Amino acid sequence: MAVGLATVTAALQGQAETRFALVPYPQSLTAQEGTFKTAKPAEEVWKVETDGQLPAEGYRLRITPDGVTCAANDKAGAFYAAQTLAQLRSGKAGAFTYPCVEITDAPKYKWRGVLIDDCRHFFGKEKVKRVMDLMAQHKLNRLHWHLTDDQGWRLDIPGYPELARHSSVRAASGKHGTRPHVRMKDYSALLNGETYGPFFYTEADMKEMIAYAAARHITIVPEIELPGHVYAALSAYPELACFPERLKGKGPLCAWGIEQDVLCVGNDKAIKFMEDVLDYVCRLFPGDTVHIGGDECPQVRWKTCPKCQARIKANGLKDEHDLQPWLTRHFLKFLDARGKRAVGWDEYLLGDVPKNAIGMSWRAGGGGAGHKFLTPLECVKRGHDLVMTPRTHCYLDYGQGLADDPFQYIGGRVTLEKCYSFDPCEGIPVELRGHIFGGQGNNWAEYTWNEYDLDWKMWPRTCALAEALWTAPSRRDFPNFLKRMETHRKRLIAAGVNCAPLR
Ligand code: ACM
Ligand code: ZN
Repeated sequence: MAVGLATVTAALQGQAETRFALVPYPQSLTAQEGTFKTAKPAEEVWKVETDGQLPAEGYRLRITPDGVTCAANDKAGAFYAAQTLAQLRSGKAGAFTYPCVEITDAPKYKWRGVLIDDCRHFFGKEKVKRVMDLMAQHKLNRLHWHLTDDQGWRLDIPGYPELARHSSVRAASGKHGTRPHVRMKDYSALLNGETYGPFFYTEADMKEMIAYAAARHITIVPEIELPGHVYAALSAYPELACFPERLKGKGPLCAWGIEQDVLCVGNDKAIKFMEDVLDYVCRLFPGDTVHIGGDECPQVRWKTCPKCQARIKANGLKDEHDLQPWLTRHFLKFLDARGKRAVGWDEYLLGDVPKNAIGMSWRAGGGGAGHKFLTPLECVKRGHDLVMTPRTHCYLDYGQGLADDPFQYIGGRVTLEKCYSFDPCEGIPVELRGHIFGGQGNNWAEYTWNEYDLDWKMWPRTCALAEALWTAPSRRDFPNFLKRMETHRKRLIAAGVNCAPLR
């Protein structure tokens, strides 16, 4: 990348990459002579002031030999100043040293996210807390938590006990190195025969996680998938599917792919089920948004389902293509009445969907899974706000191009440099860029079994995404990032993170 090399190099003043190995890099940094020495961490002895001129989440930090002052306009700003100080610190308790510097900083984008898929493989409270610790250190502020899918349902819901009892357990998983897929005639030989689960969060667990997130200025965005990717729930409550007999005696899927048995949109009981789930989710999670999935929903069952066909007729819809937008409109209103905005994968914007629906654009680089899709430009032209997560730059379950990599990937390739080159506003005219909230790295977990595997795929690529979302393009430069990462990767490894090599 050639962006801003001269500016960055000048600002860094020679050897500053190692002296100020900050990730993400601040918007303005002026190195100064000298150091500040202190027995306690600087954020315990600093002076903090409020500056109403600073933007949301922004801060100003001044380190002199005599002490540290921080100015911020909100608590998040002071929190991010403390994260910067932690990266500037050397020495140990009783004898810390900080380089003298003046930093003025604020994020480029307000949505700086990470998706954790707890359905395909389950990570659990302690591992997700660790992800949040690392997110905070990199000034990331949205945990998009994928809690329901074909292969598992991970949230206890009052009134639907079978979700925790039945839908959180699958009979087996694919053996390491295999690729069981729902479209295969028989994948039983690929399965390991080990019961997986029960794995789910109780209300008390979630309250603990919500408080943990809040203390780190992270907003949890819970995702409840509808109307597709819902097989785990349907296997507990077959009457919510178009053809219940197909689900009887079944459990969550043990293979990956796009399942054709989806929610029966013609069935009032199925709508009521999702209303009950989302009503509970709205009350439990304090955040401003709820993700309602919407991706990869085949319509083949709806085509022959009498209830779905009756719904089409009763509402004057054209055919089964109109059912998902009908459902989306219903749940947009439902969430709006509860003070939440809906987010959904880009498919859910197809058809007649009101502007207040936030899109999560994952196929920006081209169509996916044989489905039609709206480009980011088409979405913003229709008035939708967008979170950008193109699989070409943000899918961390894709290979990272390392010569010697012990882990299995779903396919594709997203190198560290590719992550770094992520520009959420690519192809969006200046006057429509206000619709781009930011972006996130997606850690789909079909082939990610545990935290070591997750660490390796997340880091260092999430460092690159964090900088793409925080730092202005004029301050970004890949060779300079790599230099800083030589120091920063050592920090991550010292903290026990199974960080992959830089190249
Ligand atoms: C997706 O990757 N199916 C959103
Ligand atoms: Zn149906």
